[in-house]
Amino acid sequence: MEMRHLLYLATCLFLLNSCTKENIDGTPSLNPELPEVAYDYKNITLPFNAVPGLVQINTRIDFINIDPFSNPIFTGGFINNPGGIKQEITDEGATLGRVLFYDKSLSQNNTISCASCHQQKLAFTDGKAFSEGFQGELTERNSMSIINPILQNNLFWDSRSVSILDLSLKPIQNHIEMGMERLDILEEKVRNIDYYGPLFEKAFGDRHITSDRIAVAISQFVSSITSSNSKFDKGQLNTFELHGKQVFLEKCGSCHSGSNFAADDGPGGAYGMNFIDLSSTSIVNLRGTTNIGLDVVSADNGFDGKFRIPTLRNIMLTAPYMHDGRFKTIDEVLDHYSSGIKPNANLDVKFKTPDGKVKFISLSDAERLALKAFLAALTDETMLTDPKYSDPFRRR
Ligand code: HEC
Ligand code: HEC
Repeated sequence: MEMRHLLYLATCLFLLNSCTKENIDGTPSLNPELPEVAYDYKNITLPFNAVPGLVQINTRIDFINIDPFSNPIFTGGFINNPGGIKQEITDEGATLGRVLFYDKSLSQNNTISCASCHQQKLAFTDGKAFSEGFQGELTERNSMSIINPILQNNLFWDSRSVSILDLSLKPIQNHIEMGMERLDILEEKVRNIDYYGPLFEKAFGDRHITSDRIAVAISQFVSSITSSNSKFDKGQLNTFELHGKQVFLEKCGSCHSGSNFAADDGPGGAYGMNFIDLSSTSIVNLRGTTNIGLDVVSADNGFDGKFRIPTLRNIMLTAPYMHDGRFKTIDEVLDHYSSGIKPNANLDVKFKTPDGKVKFISLSDAERLALKAFLAALTDETMLTDPKYSDPFRRR
């Protein structure tokens, strides 16, 4: 036996499960099942103006040609790409993106896909405080829901990404999440899988497979994930839930704002890019983050000691909560706001009294119940069950 064979064998024994037949020829055992005519991804319906009295404030910076106020239904999606380059969502591109999103072959040892940590029925979270990556190591933060990401100017808990396109290869390359550190190896792997040639051709006009195209397709799919069909969006709140909405707008809505109930992180937004004072040119950009006093001293520094104000859509399905998944239930979250806030150095001013003490959010039992009913009315069954976001692979 040649030396290189011996080496290969030794590596195989060492990395046992990465040397399955699948990994050698790159072909998973089952093909994706796709509809004859592609699903409609490009006509996305965003919940603009969903909150009467509250205008849509967190539109993406690159939507320069789109006036959200006159476009309650936004036709022909574009995805964020800094530098002003518009990237269009096409039905074929997003179809390819869906297959890539669900394909475990994109991970180093064929065990993890994006969907392992982002499951549709859980609003694209995974129900865990921390997620297991391709070698069983845990992620450092709680998996985030993916809901109307196109409305967010910043992504990840620490807002380290401003672009869905830029984000799309990161988890694949990340050594904990999917472990394909070398993009040339990723490309080679995807090239060796039969069903990708035709999918790339439909999406891009030819069968050329590059990591840039992989990122574009995944970002088209991710950008197409929208929610605008909850009980709340349909205007079907009962008196009790309407009371909850009032409580929400009064106590939570200044942070969880706009139609995605998330950070107002657009230009000029309360948590977006702001001029400190108009006479100077200095600007501060909070990138949609703040600190809610989870700890006196935080173990994770996030974005300068702050974390992104996340969406509350489908919130009943995305436990555990917070960047480190520390709260198991909504009641624990509400207990934090009503009695658990700690005096962190970066604590949001809204949680401070004029003399610098912690100011809690007061919630009577009746208000708490109504608030929970309102949050439950943000669940969108359409998004959670829509076949166009579902797993195209039969069970492996
Ligand atoms: C092992 C689990 C895991 C895998 C696999 C994974 N993610 Fe994530 N995802 C996470 C975690 C954890 C975060 C939050 C990370 C942080 O903030 O530092 C996250 C955040 C995100 C976000 C940001 C959402 C927001 O509102 O800011 C998007 C989008 C996303 N992932 C898409 C993907 C895509 C696309 C893939 C596949 C290419 C993928 N993820 C694979 C765990 C995972
Ligand atoms: C000062 C701004 C602010 C206010 C006011 C506020 N929140 Fe938050 N909220 C945040 C931030 C920031 C986070 C993420 C914190 C982290 O993980 O470190 C968060 C996280 C959450 C989460 C967890 C979300 C997830 O995906 O894990 C829930 C639920 C929540 N808030 C509900 C509420 C409710 C209900 C109210 C009103 C009673 C409220 N918030 C008031 C800023 C705020």
